[in-house]
Amino acid sequence: MPLQLAVLKDSKQGETRAAATPETVKKYVALGIDVEVETGVGEAAGFLDAAYAENGATVVSAKEAGTKADIVLSVNAPDGGKVSALQQGAVLLAMLDPHNNKDQINAYAKAGLKAMAMELMPRITRAQSMDVLSSQSNLAGYKSVLDATGVYGRALPMMMTAAGTIAPAKIFVMGAGVAGLQAIATARRLGAVVSATDVRAAAAEQVESLGASFVMVEQDADDSGETAGGYAKEMSEDYQKRQAALVSEHIAKQDIVICTALIPGRKAPVLVSKEQAESMRPGSVIVDLAVEQGGNCVLSKPGEVVEHKGVKIVGHTNVPGRLAGNASELYARNLYNFVETFFDTESGSLNLDDQDEIIAGIALTRDGAVVHSAIS
Ligand code: NAI
Repeated sequence: MPLQLAVLKDSKQGETRAAATPETVKKYVALGIDVEVETGVGEAAGFLDAAYAENGATVVSAKEAGTKADIVLSVNAPDGGKVSALQQGAVLLAMLDPHNNKDQINAYAKAGLKAMAMELMPRITRAQSMDVLSSQSNLAGYKSVLDATGVYGRALPMMMTAAGTIAPAKIFVMGAGVAGLQAIATARRLGAVVSATDVRAAAAEQVESLGASFVMVEQDADDSGETAGGYAKEMSEDYQKRQAALVSEHIAKQDIVICTALIPGRKAPVLVSKEQAESMRPGSVIVDLAVEQGGNCVLSKPGEVVEHKGVKIVGHTNVPGRLAGNASELYARNLYNFVETFFDTESGSLNLDDQDEIIAGIALTRDGAVVHSAIS
């Protein structure tokens, strides 16, 4: 019997993305996999049931979805009701948020699932096409600039008009990873004068190659600011003080600040204090992409646009989901690339070798136990 793959509709409130699109359904079917999708799975992203069916999927009710599946795809962690309906031994692929979802991970182990957290994908060349953090952060970075312009009462580019010259907006991007670099590129395309900062010294060249200036605290001796995996480290107290002083001086002159700084598995670093936000002129905007991880700005609130002394602080959650069509397309391809890589065409089954660097990096549960070192 062919491998059975099910695509669940997300139960997380406000989720607009889907874990498969009609395009990826067609590709799974071409591999010889049977696909079922839960009714309405892609509706919020612009993909209707009929399009999934036309590409070879069977559309099933919420109650039936996943009950016979060998592979289960979802955007976020499925809730308890859905999990209890899944088969023992099923492979669950989703963004399971393992650091904040320990109880649920234990429940997956108990249910005998092979749960894989896609956001733990190692940052190695072979896994680039499966890297969900990159695909989603890139879109979030782009959208953060548009969200800023949406509430900013001024234009971004310099304009020379008969009535006088409009000065270009100054945009400061804090954190120059995947989201930050895309924010820089987008802000530059819209004509803003852009600067950026990061704790990783390696980011300077990337920032400058996009036409932005790099603002950075001098590093502690022998410290590149990053881990072996390429992520930021938590910096020393002294560094944090020097960074705050530099930011205070710079931020008062900015019109828009885009915050994207994260440290994997930890609360986001606080980079913009109340006083620093108050030093910006009325009408300025701060967008906090880190709001769901505690926020880079102390004033941001998840899911809200708050105004503090004339400064608007934008705290949208699930920013990739605000571009649900593209975010679903890229996420769905990330999942397909994973399945295709580990699909053994001869046996028609998934071959998930525990020793493989990718599987070892993302597998949370196996044979009834939690197996990932980061959460056990
Ligand atoms: P992230 O989302 O974890 O963090 C965003 C940015 O915030 C990072 O650049 C980080 O250095 C910065 N940051 C953290 N604390 C900060 C602080 N206190 N002040 C200022 N900035 C701070 O990181 P992301 O975007 O996921 O990328 C991390 C690295 O991984 C980057 O070097 C990126 O180029 C690299 N990467 C490598 C890939 C691969 O090789 N396959 C794929 C994607 C990214």
